[in-house]
Amino acid sequence: MIYDLIILGGGPAGYNASERAAHAGMKTLVIEGEFIGGVCLNEGCIPTKTLLYSAKIYDYAKHGEQYGVKFGSAELDHAFVVERKNRVVKMLVGGVTSTLKKAGVDVVAENGIITGRDAEGFTVKTPSGVYKGKQLLICTGSQASVPPITGLREAVASGFAMTNREILDLKQIPDRLTVIGGGVIGLEMASYFNSAGSKVTVVEMLDHIAGPTDRAISSILQKNYTKNGITFMLGAKVTSVDKDGVNYELAGKQGSVAADAVLVSVGRRPRTQDIGLESIGVLVERGSIVTNDQCKTNVSGVWAAGDVNGKSMLAHTAYREGEVAVNNMLGKKDRVDYISIPSVIYTNPEVASVGETEESAKEKNLDVIIKTTTMKMSGRYIAENEVGDGILKLIVGRAHQNILGVHLIGNYASEIIYGAAMMVQKEMRVSDLQKQVFPHPTVCEVIREALFSF
Ligand code: NAI
Repeated sequence: MIYDLIILGGGPAGYNASERAAHAGMKTLVIEGEFIGGVCLNEGCIPTKTLLYSAKIYDYAKHGEQYGVKFGSAELDHAFVVERKNRVVKMLVGGVTSTLKKAGVDVVAENGIITGRDAEGFTVKTPSGVYKGKQLLICTGSQASVPPITGLREAVASGFAMTNREILDLKQIPDRLTVIGGGVIGLEMASYFNSAGSKVTVVEMLDHIAGPTDRAISSILQKNYTKNGITFMLGAKVTSVDKDGVNYELAGKQGSVAADAVLVSVGRRPRTQDIGLESIGVLVERGSIVTNDQCKTNVSGVWAAGDVNGKSMLAHTAYREGEVAVNNMLGKKDRVDYISIPSVIYTNPEVASVGETEESAKEKNLDVIIKTTTMKMSGRYIAENEVGDGILKLIVGRAHQNILGVHLIGNYASEIIYGAAMMVQKEMRVSDLQKQVFPHPTVCEVIREALFSF
């Protein structure tokens, strides 16, 4: 039998695309060697959010008195939290598995390697079978990068250093956790372990945390966590890891942080090796499969979606890319609008962004107006965050008054940002949005307030 579509990888890009393709009548096969749901469901987005939700409840319980609620002595049961995380993951993986079954998608639970193409299509081999498909969608994702820092690989092998994968199942809260890299994973895990009682130090080589996040927002986030007890070593490049901890170079001087456990979160690498890309000549540059905004590769009939193209490395980008690839296969022209993809850091307070930042607008020489508003313009925000210091920053094009970027720090930011993404995607103007009614009292009203300052 020849499939219409073979998908390599069953993470968010692959499983979502397979469902869409099957519903459109394509006979579809997903080949997934590790776990359906990929990193997102099994060792990324969902497990971390489960852990962080427990930490949030614990933090609220500890500070309940601020709101007139006394809990006695609150305690975080880490073993229970991990067990609950495993239950949540199992439930969701089960859900995806049965959705694929219902949609009529075939699934092979083995690793596949592309071995070539002939007149009938592409061939993919697994340890127990050979499969043929007219089209191929590569969704093999990414893995944690473990750079050649002296002693780091040995530390990972011994369990002293961990990636996002191993740290999720850590049995005990370490007294001192040192996090290498103050990006998204580093900050979310630092947040959990700080709440759970570890003395956390984040060592980041840039002069700010949270990578491309708006600089005013990342510095508010840093201030909040410094107050909560996290130490940030900025401008500090980790040069080696030994049995006592992490060594870094800061302004030409050597320093070290003692640790009982180390998290390495310095980025992720697309999984492009050992999947047979060379057998059909798929172009890979700097480790990523090269795709256009329709998710096409250089080889006709071969598409790639998700982290493997190294473009945005977010699960929701992967969903969209998988869909775009399938639509184009079906002859429905579609493209990914990368600039309107929102991103969220699930710290407490949450950070959410979409579109241009003040920094990126400057780099691109865009003529913009920037308005910054305190989240305290929202009554609900104050009711729930009396001592909060959240802000909203709007980036608007001067000529057409269109929304180019929206950046928030403060809770519910993660749930508000999709509306802002629509504003950016539809290139909405301030005057259009001023006519939009926002529910009251909600935190998203800060956007409406800011719109009237134009
Ligand atoms: P990242 O790219 O976000 O951050 C890595 C950080 O490590 C950078 O700030 C970099 O300057 C720093 N770094 C690199 N080498 C260093 C060294 N030797 N010493 C000190 N600092 C060093 O990567 P991260 O946090 O590992 O996340 C990987 C991917 O996972 C990201 O692309 C992210 O988008 C995705 N992700 C998204 C989440 C979300 O949407 N909430 C949650 C978790 C991950």
